[in-house]
Amino acid sequence: MKFIAGTPKGETVVKFVYEGELDGIRDDAKANNFSGKERELLVAYPGKPAKRLIVAGLGRKEKFTTEKLRRAAAQVGQRARSLDLAEISCVPPSGDRAENTQAVVEGIALALYEYKRWKSKQHKPLKLQTVRVDGDADAVRRGEVYARATCLTRDLVNDPPSVCTPRYLADAAKKIAKNGIAIKIFDEKQIKKMGMGGLEGVAIGSTEPPRFVHLSYKAPGARRTVAIVGKGITFDSGGLCLKPADGMLNMKDDMSGAGAVIGIFSALAELKPRVNVHGIFAATENMPGGSAYKTRDVLRAMNGKTMEIINTDAEGRLILADALSYASRLKPSEIIDMATLTGACVVALGPDMSAIFTASDKLQKGILSAAKAQGEKVWPMPLENEYMEMIKSDVADMKNSGGRWGGAITAALFLREFVDEGIPWAHLDIAGPALVESDRPYRPAGGTGVMVRTLLRYLEEQ
Ligand code: BES
Ligand code: MN
Ligand code: ZN
Repeated sequence: MKFIAGTPKGETVVKFVYEGELDGIRDDAKANNFSGKERELLVAYPGKPAKRLIVAGLGRKEKFTTEKLRRAAAQVGQRARSLDLAEISCVPPSGDRAENTQAVVEGIALALYEYKRWKSKQHKPLKLQTVRVDGDADAVRRGEVYARATCLTRDLVNDPPSVCTPRYLADAAKKIAKNGIAIKIFDEKQIKKMGMGGLEGVAIGSTEPPRFVHLSYKAPGARRTVAIVGKGITFDSGGLCLKPADGMLNMKDDMSGAGAVIGIFSALAELKPRVNVHGIFAATENMPGGSAYKTRDVLRAMNGKTMEIINTDAEGRLILADALSYASRLKPSEIIDMATLTGACVVALGPDMSAIFTASDKLQKGILSAAKAQGEKVWPMPLENEYMEMIKSDVADMKNSGGRWGGAITAALFLREFVDEGIPWAHLDIAGPALVESDRPYRPAGGTGVMVRTLLRYLEEQ
């Protein structure tokens, strides 16, 4: 499927209308009970200006958001698929031309994502080849790039955990590291040598070797550098503190942060934001095994701090301890991490929202506004200092679990210990939205690629 900028031609024209604004389609609208409300879709055959007209409702004009347009476009894409159309021409509504054009492209491209790698019966292939959008070429391209990056992350999350191993993730990063994107991949020996005791400790119970990956993008003349860090647990069994079956079911998604780093980097060469970007992830399985790390073990992270193991299922923070230490050494202007870190976060915010923890108003504002523009839900949570008490250890610098209450907060406080003072840092807990069990608008069930579009936009706005 390709997207091109251009004025409408061909058999099918797609329009987006506000509620009650039915000029030119009044008769068809009436006959089909269509009034332009959100989620309404009309397919008519007027002959003029095209043989077929698809009209999508946007709801009331005063309440318009680009997210409503993105969702309307997603429905259009799905209808075009079920009608077996090969080509459509979309006319975004008036308003912010670039934003609306990008939203239409994203909505269609993301809604038509499918993960069919393991279906042995040939399923119906997508007929839709060409989507023409009446907007500027830059916005069309941007929408396409954002969607493609998101779908790359979705693929990585959807891949089975015995396929998407740490080495596979490192290979995926290597594949996208071209056109001015550099990569360093560290193997288990180098991980040990660098003093990454968190990553080493979690990995030791698994037969799959860990990997640590550092991607970098340099913008000519950039004055600032953003480091993006991801959790890359390719399967979280819980380790010796084994998860029950239902809690383990979707734990192939525990590499969604690392997957998002890869998705984001796959787009940087094309988008060329004006900041330098580091992309960092630690990848390992978390498995029980004869050599697995145990409760009351003590691990030492790369920055020298020691961590007492209370629960081997609180493994994400242990590998992030090293990844954040490594990121801090690069002396970036800021660090943003993404991690499917806690079930507690899902309890707090439900399956569709990410949490943001940060002491930086500027980072928070920047990320929240990018998220809003991209239709991703992010909610601020507190870094409550007094809860540091909960992760105090008698034998080490910290313990890796503060117990049940405030679990998302104590996890964030733990991570903060590995970010060098003075570097603004934001932690995004994406445990809920990284994978959804049922379809959402333009997010089919499975891996979502959450935060890829938000952070791409954030980087482009620097
Ligand atoms: N990967 C999980 C968190 C998670 C839970 C992600 C549900 C997505 C959906 C993480 O490693 C974990 O197991 N966290 C524990 C921490 C606890 C042992 C302190 C949790 O949340 O139960
Ligand atoms: Mn875990
Ligand atoms: Zn985990």
